[in-house]
Amino acid sequence: MNPENRLTANLPQFPESLWRDTVDVPTFPRLNGNHQTDVAIIGGGITGITTAYLLSKAGYKVTLLEAGTILNGTTGFTSAKITAQHGLIYHNLLEHFGEEQAGLYYKSNNEAMEWMIRTAQELHLSCGMTRDDAYLYVDAGDDKTRQQLEKEFAAYQTLGLPGKWLDSVSLPLRAEGAITLPGQARFHPLQYLLGLLKAFLENGGVVYEHTTISEKVENSGRLTLFTEQDQHAITCSHAVSASHFPFYDGGALYFSRLHAERSYCLAIQPEMQFEGGMYLSAGQPTRSLRAVEWEGRKLVIVGGDNHKTGQGICTFGHYENLERFAGQLLGIKVMPYRWSAQDLITLDRVPYIGKIKGDKEIYIATGFGKWGMTSGTLAAQIIADQIQGTDNPYTELYNPSRFKANPGIKNFIVQNANVAKELIAGKVEIIHKKTKDLKRDEGAVVFHDGKRIGAYRDLEGHLHLVDRTCTHMGCECEWNNGERTWDCPCHGSRFSYDGAVLEGPATLPLDTISPKIP
Ligand code: FES
Repeated sequence: MNPENRLTANLPQFPESLWRDTVDVPTFPRLNGNHQTDVAIIGGGITGITTAYLLSKAGYKVTLLEAGTILNGTTGFTSAKITAQHGLIYHNLLEHFGEEQAGLYYKSNNEAMEWMIRTAQELHLSCGMTRDDAYLYVDAGDDKTRQQLEKEFAAYQTLGLPGKWLDSVSLPLRAEGAITLPGQARFHPLQYLLGLLKAFLENGGVVYEHTTISEKVENSGRLTLFTEQDQHAITCSHAVSASHFPFYDGGALYFSRLHAERSYCLAIQPEMQFEGGMYLSAGQPTRSLRAVEWEGRKLVIVGGDNHKTGQGICTFGHYENLERFAGQLLGIKVMPYRWSAQDLITLDRVPYIGKIKGDKEIYIATGFGKWGMTSGTLAAQIIADQIQGTDNPYTELYNPSRFKANPGIKNFIVQNANVAKELIAGKVEIIHKKTKDLKRDEGAVVFHDGKRIGAYRDLEGHLHLVDRTCTHMGCECEWNNGERTWDCPCHGSRFSYDGAVLEGPATLPLDTISPKIP
């Protein structure tokens, strides 16, 4: 979009990520026949593209398969901080994983960050890669979080992390304590990944878009995967699931061991000077800040307001909360972009990365929480090493088959009780709204022909009606008025207003109810 059209201080009507709007992402054909390769990678985000780059560089024949279009999942909608400071995590890791594994968590993320910085230099990528310090702060008066932050700092000291305690920060955040981790980084994730993609294509890599892989897998020496739409066969020696929910579950029940959260971002030009630094609140509601350059202006990305997918009530309200916070803290001159992202969180908050249990050469990478930049990169490194038969010191820590008794069991019960509650709640809610009540650009659950259905009236006044029963396991999707989507509260599948799958684990669209009513 012409940047001039974005110069307003109001929330943009439609979501659009700054990253997506400032690059030209190439398009690729759909797979329209059977295919043979060494490694099939499913998912065209940071994990998929980095794995494809590493393995193609090592001489493997690699094919990248994307259900939609590349760089249009979480990677295109991140706040793009590259850091090993992942909120309040190290105290927790020390308690449940022990000192050695907690230390490896830091080391693996720090090494991934340094590798990204080095790779951007080696490939001469213009991706705004800039060192910046990270800050985890607590608001004045929040004594409970202050105690947690102090425990977190004690964990930094036990593990020998290079963090420092600050009694205040330079922003008027009313922070009364912070841990800073120096020398972290920020960048433009798509400029960086388009550079890796170019190198991958030059190494002979192949990409197919609009190609959904089904969960059917045959194993007879080599693996055979199949496309969902037309059952084309992809024969390969190794398959890598880099697509959020693994395309192949293999009895591991990943959907019951992960939950989905949405979070929101605004890009604003502040009235006040913003000196840099990547800030994150330790308490709730989550608030995050980082600088970015756009069209010769210095902007700030303001993020946070996380909630479980499909359980956000008024989703547009989350943007308004961030707008209020940014306005009070920095003042807003213009606000060219707003966007949201979806992240998956594991039971113990450590990603699941590596080869699945059993004899199939299938590798998965999922559950990065909000930290997909370093986690996606280290996932690519671990999986590329495993495929090449090279030892990797982080294999055990991220093993997708692990099950930590605590906090794993407790979170497993909470997560699945929540799913059961949502499954029932959506079936019994009482609805009074009718399709005729919907204004233009409004969506809601309505009562229509004796049934509760999903309805959206578009800007031209046309109605789009769907059966909002999620095609994954039957929960009822909720309307997301910030993005104009149907979001499932159980495991985070998302569908466009006309039912198309935007994010899994669902692979089939919502049933539409036709004919459309004018
Ligand atoms: Fe599992 Fe909808 S995502 S039921």
